[in-house]
Amino acid sequence: MSKEIKVIVVAGARPNFMKIAPLMKAVAAHNAPPGPGGPRIAAQLLHTGQHYDEAMSEVFFRDLGIRPPDINLEVGSGSHAVQTANVMTKFELVCEREKPDWVVVVGDVNSTMACTLVCSKLGIKVAHVEAGLRSYDRGMPEEVNRLVTDALADLLLTPSEDANENLRREGIPDDKIECVGNIMIDALVANLPQSRQRPLLAQLGLRGQDFVYVTLHRPSNVDNQSSLSAIMAHLHRLAKRLPVVFPLHPRTKKMCAQFGISLGDNPGLRILDPIGYHDSLCLTENARLVLTDSGGLQEESTYFRTPCLTLRPNTERPVTVTVGSNKLTNIEQLPEDLDAVLARESRFGQIPLLWDGHTAERIIARLLRQG
Ligand code: UD1
Repeated sequence: MSKEIKVIVVAGARPNFMKIAPLMKAVAAHNAPPGPGGPRIAAQLLHTGQHYDEAMSEVFFRDLGIRPPDINLEVGSGSHAVQTANVMTKFELVCEREKPDWVVVVGDVNSTMACTLVCSKLGIKVAHVEAGLRSYDRGMPEEVNRLVTDALADLLLTPSEDANENLRREGIPDDKIECVGNIMIDALVANLPQSRQRPLLAQLGLRGQDFVYVTLHRPSNVDNQSSLSAIMAHLHRLAKRLPVVFPLHPRTKKMCAQFGISLGDNPGLRILDPIGYHDSLCLTENARLVLTDSGGLQEESTYFRTPCLTLRPNTERPVTVTVGSNKLTNIEQLPEDLDAVLARESRFGQIPLLWDGHTAERIIARLLRQG
């Protein structure tokens, strides 16, 4: 086995940052003397620049203690084809120059798929962290990204056993698949001390378990005028019962402006700019209820056993429903589901297996075994 394994770790968009933070930390721990042995891992951190605003990117590097990227492709926004193509064109040059042994990609954003495609053509091995998740809804751009990434990756590191089953059904051999657990929970566990120090609740005048934390940004909810108007009407009604905290994703803000949807002056509805990682964990841990269409929040609320309503017809994270505190809902069903959740106990569900804060170590161990 060689003395050094050269790895590029890729991140592009907000939900990637909490997945690469534990990985970079585990690499540093592996390399630190005396270390657990085995070859050194020379890891470069590459940011594609898919997300670029301070509030969508830098704040996460700061909160999570991630060192600045070694390489930034600065691709910015664009249509799916433009963004994917820009990542591919620029990443190919990096791969030809750096010649990594492995590229590690995480999650399901356009950057994940674009970098995997480049590697598969150049014969560079790819490890996909958070492999095997399926919503079985190809109308979601992320589902296409997951299918392409998993079909091409050499090592498929999954968060839960249902993901292994999905991959086996697609004919992926067992020796490429390993259930390593949920990497996001590593970040969550490591950052609880800081999130519990945040002054946000006091600043907003909120008490624990007496507010609803809302995040919505999926094109299926916010890119359509009638659904976005209906959702906002529900939120205004809900905010009369208990405070609603709603940090606006740039896509959602843009669509509200485009459709002329006023955010109103309802004192119970607190519209915020996007918030950082620690503030989001603080809200998730303390909310009476989370209403979201985010994948990550379904998992984080499951860890905290905070009730979660997911405004989507499906989820690629079914374990959050079968084991955790999550339930799928839709615009028509929402009032009834809100009533039902608010009527039951304020915490329920269990934490899935291997969501234990040690996933990054298992990933490093597997990469070293693979060589
Ligand atoms: C992307 C991911 C999605 C993830 C989400 C989290 C894909 C296909 N989608 O969706 O899986 O859940 O990130 O945020 O990869 N914008 C800014 N500042 C930024 C980034 C974006 O203002 O830093 C605006 C731009 O106007 C852009 C829009 O937000 O057009 C959408 O950004 P984009 O990266 O295309 O998709 P997201 O909806 O963020």
